[in-house]
Amino acid sequence: MGISNTVRGLFGRRPGTLLSNSMAIDLGTANTLIYLQGRGIVLEQPSVVALERETNAVVAVGSEAKSMLGRTGVSMQAIRPLKDGVITNATATMAMLREFLGMARTRKLSMRPRVLVCVPSGITEVEISAVKTALERAGAREVLLVPEPLAAAIGVGIPVEGAAGNMVVDIGGGTTEVAVISLSSIAANNSIRIGGDEIDEAISAYLKKQYSLLVGERTAETVKIRMGTVLEEDEEECEVNGLDFVNGIPETYVINSSDIRQALREVVATIVEAVRHGLEKTPPELASDIVDRGIVLTGGGALLRGLDRLLMSETGLPIRIADNPLSCTVLGAGIILEDIYRYRSLLIQ
Ligand SMILES: Nc1ncnc2c1ncn2[C@@H]1O[C@H](COP(=O)(O)OP(=O)(O)OP(=O)(O)O)[C@@H](O)[C@H]1O
Ligand SMILES: [Mg+2]
Repeated sequence: MGISNTVRGLFGRRPGTLLSNSMAIDLGTANTLIYLQGRGIVLEQPSVVALERETNAVVAVGSEAKSMLGRTGVSMQAIRPLKDGVITNATATMAMLREFLGMARTRKLSMRPRVLVCVPSGITEVEISAVKTALERAGAREVLLVPEPLAAAIGVGIPVEGAAGNMVVDIGGGTTEVAVISLSSIAANNSIRIGGDEIDEAISAYLKKQYSLLVGERTAETVKIRMGTVLEEDEEECEVNGLDFVNGIPETYVINSSDIRQALREVVATIVEAVRHGLEKTPPELASDIVDRGIVLTGGGALLRGLDRLLMSETGLPIRIADNPLSCTVLGAGIILEDIYRYRSLLIQ
């Protein structure tokens, strides 16, 4: 396996000199996280940017911009520049990343950083070049790429270099990635462009159909996080504010867990099906490892209440939720960055 010049360069330098100007980035549909070499995770922000419409000047980024979603008027717009795991608005992505890189860098590090970025395993050449261009225009000197499932596996402590097969299921904002990892590579995978965003959309669609209530994506997400559940237990109620589209006036409805369960049914079934399909694609030797070791769930969607137990009953396999489902991917990428020569074969050439 050839070693790229970048990896050779990184390895060749004395530790603690220029090396410490490297960072790992998990550029997600919902959240962006940055790990600074030698420091750890220094930034965790929603992938949202608010821009002035006329000039494209950045008004806000991250949490502040997320609070503006669905609330901006004619002079500016709050944008989520990624969808389904890939960049859909290049200008907004570049502007957002430039801010994030600036926030993550310490004062001592004025040089342009080297960046290791996590990308979905099913990414196309065109999408890869969009990520590279956005990062370079945002200030990166060099860009290295690693498949997200490999970074996530390292982040949850799976020994990826071993021969035994391990399955990681990452349920993010825009994608669900099922991957079987063995011998430092992805032996089988199944990726669908469905994740937490589709769950939010399903909640909005349900409230519209059932109660004639229009809610924004932020409200739908809040409802999901507060009382989303896929199993018939933990019954709860909560008030939801929205716009009654029949009367055209703001209304408050009380909805309960069974409403949400019904709303989620189809999307959750699609996610379960994706896991099943991933298992079907797994070579038999590795499948038998997974029977012993079970599946690790990562990504924010892993926190949806009852999903682990549903997957357990649907697959008959042990299911474990990662300790840090929202940050394990960037943590794994950070571990790769700290020992880039050891992990060089994981990088996308
Ligand atoms: N407690 C929770 N219950 C259910 N869903 C949650 C919870 N916390 C976060 N989420 C959802 O997790 C998703 C974000 O997860 P994550 O940050 O892993 O996605 P991402 O990495 O940005 O997306 P992707 O990997 O698809 O590009 C959002 O849809 C969010 O609503
Ligand atoms: Mg992700």
